[in-house]
Amino acid sequence: MADSLRDDQRLPRNPEPAVMVIFGASGDLTARKLVPALYDLAAQRRLPLEFAVVGVSRTEMSHEEFREKLRKALGEHRSGEVSDDVWESFASGIFYLAGDSKEAESYDELREFLKKLDTERGTQGNRAFYLSTSPSLVPTVVERLGEAGLNKGEDGGWSRLVVEKPFGSDLQSAQQLNDDIRRYFDETQIYRIDHYLGKETVQNILALRFSNGIFEPIWNQHYVDHVQITVAEDIGVGTRGAFYEEAGALRDIVQNHLMQILCLTAMEPPVAFDAQSVREEKVKVLKAVRRIPEEDLEIHAVRGQYEKGWVWDESVAGYREEEDVAEDSVTDTFVALKLFVDNWRWAGVPFYVRAGKRMPKKSTEIAIQFRPTPHTPFAGDDTKNLDPNVLVIRIQPEEGISLKIGAKVPGQGFEVSSVNMDLLYGTAFLEEAPDAYQRLLLDLMLGDPTLFIRADEAEGAWSILAPVMKSWEEKREVAMYAAGEWGPKDADELLERDGRVWRRP
Ligand code: BG6
Repeated sequence: MADSLRDDQRLPRNPEPAVMVIFGASGDLTARKLVPALYDLAAQRRLPLEFAVVGVSRTEMSHEEFREKLRKALGEHRSGEVSDDVWESFASGIFYLAGDSKEAESYDELREFLKKLDTERGTQGNRAFYLSTSPSLVPTVVERLGEAGLNKGEDGGWSRLVVEKPFGSDLQSAQQLNDDIRRYFDETQIYRIDHYLGKETVQNILALRFSNGIFEPIWNQHYVDHVQITVAEDIGVGTRGAFYEEAGALRDIVQNHLMQILCLTAMEPPVAFDAQSVREEKVKVLKAVRRIPEEDLEIHAVRGQYEKGWVWDESVAGYREEEDVAEDSVTDTFVALKLFVDNWRWAGVPFYVRAGKRMPKKSTEIAIQFRPTPHTPFAGDDTKNLDPNVLVIRIQPEEGISLKIGAKVPGQGFEVSSVNMDLLYGTAFLEEAPDAYQRLLLDLMLGDPTLFIRADEAEGAWSILAPVMKSWEEKREVAMYAAGEWGPKDADELLERDGRVWRRP
């Protein structure tokens, strides 16, 4: 239903009146991301006046206390002035209900409260339920919502469900989770959120590929030697040790953010930019990714963990010394994989992907490494500084694109050297990119799931990682790297064996 909205050009420019109910509202995500994004949308007048937010969580708090807490967080987590007028009008639609999300009574109370808002604030029976709870609570909340009849909007309104990652912890649990949710909500009502898809530069992968005629003809195994995708962070796990011990980089980053970037890089052109067409093409990529054969796992999948070291001139602790982390933990804070997309376009082209914490810097990028020219007419000595072309899409920071090309070095001879042609978004558009959550929350309210993950995408990504997870569970081994390095030696060897090296972003 919602999938076809964009085709029909029926999307309203601004969303319809609605209530967003946030479960787990006293948590970090609400204060750091959701409310700042909603405030910005309100400031841009993208939200209807008949819009309300209802926070639900166990902590006892009045509506006023909840508003004050969010107002304070807004000042801390959002740069720029907060307008008192905008805040007051936005905050008058913020409410709080204390309740145990496991108990049916909480949902009866919620239902009545939402009906009251329909009358008092004109929210017209439309509800979006944002599950920002611990993942283990998701099936229960969904079941209680269903039992209370909240899986349907009131009086012909709509009901949508937003699920945060992780979507399960492996293929089986993801399938179970999807089944549990679909007992009450159908797929068109489910919005699985991966905030990377809300990033402007991630969406720009599609713009670059499909709005420029010059890239598509060379975007294949005839011209591309290999692809490198890096999601590097300089931060450690901080206070999230307990969560991270269960997750590791493979579940936290690779299964979702990194696989999504790989899909957008490798997919075929979609017929249209709508949910059905875009997600269909992404799923085809996930199906085509070769499951790493058992005999290759040892060398095609690297699990690393940071030890103490230096990042940005600061001495930092090793992962095993972090809060809530086991002394003998083998959790992956770094992952490198060599993958192949077995289809006509990409046959034989390795996709080297890596994700890690406590790397020398924060950097997310895609590097398309092209093949060298078949023949250089210039003398060997003149081309010693010439590398094959590389197109780098910088997702963050220094958002932009750079193309490495060969150019003549000024002078008498014919020395040719590599130089970069750079596009920096910041200077090209002179506009600040909206935060990822702004885009995604607005799409949610508009009923456009294009930038959300469909069930088969989540499952497809897990199925690619299944052999790796199985082998890592059996072997309790991890390769160490000092904080501030680009991962363990094994990651370098993964490429060296193929006569290649990782880029230094
Ligand atoms: C989250 C992960 O999904 O993404 C975090 O759980 C990670 O571990 C974060 O730090 C990175 O997001 P961004 O937008 O800072 O790249």
